[in-house]
Formats: sequence, structure tokens, C-alpha cells
Amino acid sequence: MKYSPLQTERYTYKPKLPKILREQIHSVVPVLGSPTEAETDREKLKSLFPHTYGMPVVSFEKGENKKVGKKCNVGVVLSGGQAPGGHNVIAGLYDALKASNPESKLIGFLGGPSGILDDSYKELSSEDIEEYRNTGGFDIINSGRTKIETEEQYARCAEVCRNRSIDALVIIGGDDSNTNAAVLAEYFRNIGEDIAVIGVPKTIDGDLKNKYIEVSFGFDTATKTYAELIGNIQRDANSARKYWHFIKLMGRSASHICLECALQTQPTAALISEEVAEKKQTLSDIVDYLADIVTERSRKGYDFGVVLVPEGLIEFIPEMHDLISEINDLLARKQEEFSRIEQDEQKADWVAGELVGHRKEAFLSLPAEIQQQLLADRDPHGNVQVSRIETEKLLIRMVEQRLKKLKAEGTYSGKFSHQSHFFGYEGRCAFPSNFDADYCYSLGYNAFMLASSGLTGYISSIGNLSAPADQWQPGGIPITMMMNIERRHGEDKPVIKKALVELKGKPFSLFSSNRETWAKENCFIFPGAIQYFGPPSVCDQPTRTLTLEHE
Ligand code: FBP
Repeated sequence: MKYSPLQTERYTYKPKLPKILREQIHSVVPVLGSPTEAETDREKLKSLFPHTYGMPVVSFEKGENKKVGKKCNVGVVLSGGQAPGGHNVIAGLYDALKASNPESKLIGFLGGPSGILDDSYKELSSEDIEEYRNTGGFDIINSGRTKIETEEQYARCAEVCRNRSIDALVIIGGDDSNTNAAVLAEYFRNIGEDIAVIGVPKTIDGDLKNKYIEVSFGFDTATKTYAELIGNIQRDANSARKYWHFIKLMGRSASHICLECALQTQPTAALISEEVAEKKQTLSDIVDYLADIVTERSRKGYDFGVVLVPEGLIEFIPEMHDLISEINDLLARKQEEFSRIEQDEQKADWVAGELVGHRKEAFLSLPAEIQQQLLADRDPHGNVQVSRIETEKLLIRMVEQRLKKLKAEGTYSGKFSHQSHFFGYEGRCAFPSNFDADYCYSLGYNAFMLASSGLTGYISSIGNLSAPADQWQPGGIPITMMMNIERRHGEDKPVIKKALVELKGKPFSLFSSNRETWAKENCFIFPGAIQYFGPPSVCDQPTRTLTLEHE
């Protein structure tokens, strides 16, 4: 058997498109709205993007489209971490391109943005596309984290695209990749190169969203996958009644994944990094909060529970944030000296010797493994890789120490047996839910509609996502409209603002008004596995976050 029964069945699934995109491709035309402005830093952005700032928002309506049938070559690249549905973006793009002109070609750059720089590519055939429809993963052309951000790299992109006769480049990525798509679009316009650049919003983290982008693709499937696993663990905890499970969930910065999973499963406790930062909570405050819950439940005979921990937490705890920034600077400044040290323990000793004051204290208060994890390789942006820091184990250890003290004082007499988990990679390549399969296919199809209309510097956008797919609204948003200027590594840079959890938003409010009850009682919900076949009430529901944000 070459494919699993599910994969075989999923090949027959026909993703749903918004109503207007179901028309013959030549009968859909773009409608340009009024000129746009960014929310802040307008003058600066205007000067940085003289050709692409202020472009109108685009929607589509019925009409004769004369541009769309032209033979063209479109390049596509997958950038950053995997997210369920990437293959369907490519399938939607391919189907639109072939519907427009069967002689048009789709060129997949291999291994992420470096594929463009290395001119490493593959022309995607219909067999390639059929093999990957409605499947998870990015393995059709692979992904990578190389950043395209220097003048030389832009010039190289222009050269490669020119040599390959590429008319449009579709960049599927997160906030940084879409920022780079905008810069590349501006660069091409500036040098008179007629190559369109269109971005597609991807990341399981759910932090590429704003007034115009309702959700990034992959968030739906990844959170449902984690919620299934959390539900299973809750059932186990509720059955055996002997373990505290600490579960770290991906989301390098924002806690959207953790919050969504909490709403889907109603765990004993969930930490939200944005709240920790807002309330300036220390590590010790967090440990006290959790130890109180453990103690309280133990009095009722509940020596078990489930705690959700967002991956990015450590960087949101003010004292740890300061410490990590200091270490980032130190490692950047004294890279050579640091790289000569071979043993992990010696590296930690060296760093401790370089730090002073409360940062030194904070570093020395951490267990040796965590100290070493904080010193592991930086990502291409010079940031610590939070997926490698075992915050869940750190919390377990610190809660355990606190409980020992409480026991000695006679205020706790329970048993704290624990298990730790990290859910991240388990969800990034799952078979896309119907929502992500439909959304991604629509994003890809729509990206072609934008590019073939001669538009550049846009992000493919599908709106009204909490309604059934036929009511979704496809269009394009100028990327410059979503940008602001931020200080990054000592320089002012135009970037798309990362969307953190809104503490005044409905999803967080619902969570915070219920969490006390969830901590005291066992209110667990067991979501079960993603369903692909069956009633829409089970198969086609968007996330709780999206639904609440649309109420
Ligand atoms: P993107 O922002 O590129 O979509 O990736 C998100 C993510 O899955 C984070 O949740 C996680 O911290 C990170 O990727 C892990 O990266 P890697 O795959 O390089 O280990």
C-alpha cells in the first residue's frame, strides 16, 4: 500500500472556494479601492516604499478579465516553519494558473528562500500536484529559514527570476517573510523589473493577523491537533488521578496557540505570556500561582491536573527577558571567544562570569540544563530558539521545590507526581483540517488572481472566515499598509507588526473569566481527533479564537 486509507480518500476532497472565485477565471476582475495608509510611521514608510506605498485594497467581482489568459511563469517558495495547508496553497495557485492558460508554468524554488538565491528549482507537474493535494507538510518543495534581506540578495533574486522568465513570485511565509516580500516588490519596481511579488500568510503561531488578515493558515489544524492530544492526556489524568502533566505548546512569541487550546480543552491551568509581561510577573510569581493551585486541589483529593505552558513564556518574564537580551548581545559581541569554548558547562561558566548584577543572579538561579539551553545556537535573526528551552521542566522543578517548602511548613500534604510534554512538531504537518484545506486552496488561487492582474506588494487575503466558504471574501491587501517601523538589532526597520494575544479581546476574556473554576473543578473537554468527513458542525468549524473575534 503506497498511501494510507485517509490519504487516498483525501485526494478526492475538493476544497471549497469563495463564491466569486468559482466563476470562470476569465470572468473575474479586480476592483481597486481607495489609496491606503499605514497606521503609523506613514512618512517613513512612504519614503522607503515610493513605488508600492499607498496602493489600494483589492477585491474581486464578475467581469471580463483580459489580463488573465496570458501565458506566464510563476515562482513559488515556502519560507519558515511548516504549517498544515501549504501544499494546498500551491495546488490552488497551480489550478488557477493552468485554468488561465494551460501553457503557463509553476516553478517551485527548493528548500526555502535560499532556493531562489541558489537557482535551485523544479517545474511542478500535474503529477507532483496530485501527489500532495490536501496533505500536510512542505515536502513538495521543502522549506527553509534563509532571509532575503540584503541588496546583493535582492539583485540575485532579480537575476534568477529574469533568467527563468518568471513573471510573478509567490512567497508563502510569516511576518518576516511577508515583510521581505514587500521589500522585494519595491526593489523590482525600483529597478524597472516587471515581476510581481505576492505574499501568503502562513504560521501555526497565529501571530500574523490584523484588521485585514483574519488568521494565518495552519493555526486551525495545529491547534486542533494539540487540543486532541491535550484532551487525551486530560482523560488519562482524570482516570488515573495520579499525575500533574505540564505541556509546553509551540508559539515562539505570542500565546495564541496556548489560549486557543485552553479554550478547546478547559485545562486546570494555562499561562499566557502576554499577561505575564503586562502584570510584570516574576518566575517566582508564576511558580507561586501554580503551587497554590496544586495545594488547593490536593485538599480536595485532586493530586492531578493539566497545565499548559506557551513556548515563548520565558522571554515574556521581565527578568528573563532582560537576561536573554543581555546574552544575545554578549554572544553577538564576543562570538569568537564563545565559540572557542567546547564544553557546555564551561560555556555557562563563561557567560556567568561576563554577566553582572541582577542578570547574573537570574542566570545563576536557573538549573544547569536551562542555562545551557539559553546558550544554544541562535536562529537566523539572532534570537534564542525557544522551542529548545524546556520551560515546562523548569516550572515542574520549581513548583516541586516550592511544594517541599509548603510541606515542611505543614500547609501541603499531597503528592506531586509529574509528567512533561512538548507539543509542537506533532501538529505542524498534520493533514490540514477542512478549514485549512479550503482556506489554503483559496489563498493560492487568489494569489494567482492578484499576480495575473499585474498587482505587486500585496498579501493574498481571504476574509469573512467564520462564515461558510462560499461567503468568504477574497482580495489583496498592500503589505506596506500593515507595516510599522520597529527597532531590530539596533536598527529602525519596516516590519509587519506581530499580533500578540489581546488581553482585552474576547478569547482572553472568556478564558480569564473561567480559569478559576477550571483550576478548582475538573471541567476538562475532550475534543477528539480532527474529522474530515461528516456533518459541517463537526468538520468545518473554525477555531474558538476566530469565532469569538467575529462575534
Ligand atoms: P514560523 O514562524 O516560521 O511559522 O515557525 C513557527 C514555529 O513553528 C514556532 O512555533 C517554533 O518556535 C519554531 O517554528 C520552531 O522552528 P524550527 O522548525 O526551526 O525548529
